[in-house]
Formats: sequence, C-alpha cells, structure tokens
Amino acid sequence: MSANTIEHNRNRFSFEGIDAIWLFGYGSLIYKVDFPFLEKRPASITGWARRFWQGSHDHRGTPEAPGRVVTLVEQPDSVCKGMAYRVSPSVFEYLDVREKNGYLRFATRMTFDDGSHAEGLVYIATEDNEAFLGEMPEQDIARQIASASGPSGPNSEYLLRLAESLRILGDECPHTFLIEEHLTASDK
Ligand code: SIN
Repeated sequence: MSANTIEHNRNRFSFEGIDAIWLFGYGSLIYKVDFPFLEKRPASITGWARRFWQGSHDHRGTPEAPGRVVTLVEQPDSVCKGMAYRVSPSVFEYLDVREKNGYLRFATRMTFDDGSHAEGLVYIATEDNEAFLGEMPEQDIARQIASASGPSGPNSEYLLRLAESLRILGDECPHTFLIEEHLTASDK
C-alpha cells in the first residue's frame, strides 16, 4: 500500500447520518490537539501495544532522513492508554491529511476510566505501508530520533512530549520510556 493514505481513508468509512464519533489517540493526538472536539476523555484499548516503528517523512523527518513515530501492533492482553475525543466527522478531512503518511482509520472499542465503553476510530499504520520501518532495538531508535527533524519540528520533541503525556495519563509504556531514557542519556 502506498504511504499516502488520504484517498484510502476517504473511501473507507461512510459517516452518513453520523453527527459525532469517538476517536482514540495514542501518539501525537494526545498532546497536539489542533482540531475541534466536543468532548475529551482518557481511555484505553486492549490488544494493542504502542511502538516507534512507523517512519515519519513528512512531520518529524524528511524523505532522505525519516524520523520515527508511533503506531500500534497487535499484542494480546496489552492495554494502551490514550485520549479519546468525540469529534464531528468533518474533523477527519483535516486529520486524514495530518495522518496521511501510512495511517489508516480502523474501528475500535475503547474503555473509559469509569469502565464504560464506546465504539470509535483509531489511526494505525500497518506493516504493509511503505513508510513502515519496523522493529529495532530501543537504543538504535533513540539514535535515529535524536538526529531526525522535519516540518513539524525535531523528532526528539515528539518523543519527549509523548512520554510526558503518558506519565500524566498513567500509562506504563516501557518501550517509550526506554527510548526516552536512551535519548536523554545521550545528551549528557
Ligand atoms: C495517534 O496519535 O493516535 C496516531 C499517531 C500519531 O499521530 O502520532
């Protein structure tokens, strides 16, 4: 599948008759909220783990020197915490462009902090997209992140802001925190 997913996403899901829908964010959508929303609630999804395995050629890197950003990989029993936003379907006209480098919208079931559930959407970059970089030791990922930068800013800022947001949400994400540890150790 080509890395540019705008058209794939537009043909994927009909919002006809829908006024508002929940969107689950687990990466930059937690801390970079540059879209309107009707309601916002901490939430989690089960069976998915956050990984810095997706290349960023358009936001936190360049085609010549891609950065690394998060996607979700299937992992039974794993719980990924994030932020859920109830949004108008028109918001996806903007978000499909922002998330165009390999991310597709998938239906998911999210659980809110009070134990209640909602069906909604989540952007996931699957391993068959052209921008997928895949698994690498956390120390090497930290090195790549330290040297990458793109139109949205340094890749390190993406990592550090995400790690800070996960601490606030109370998400134990050893993968993210280990990369953060390597990155900050390499600064000293
Ligand atoms: C998300 O935040 O939910 C998608 C991945 C990203 O934009 O970092």
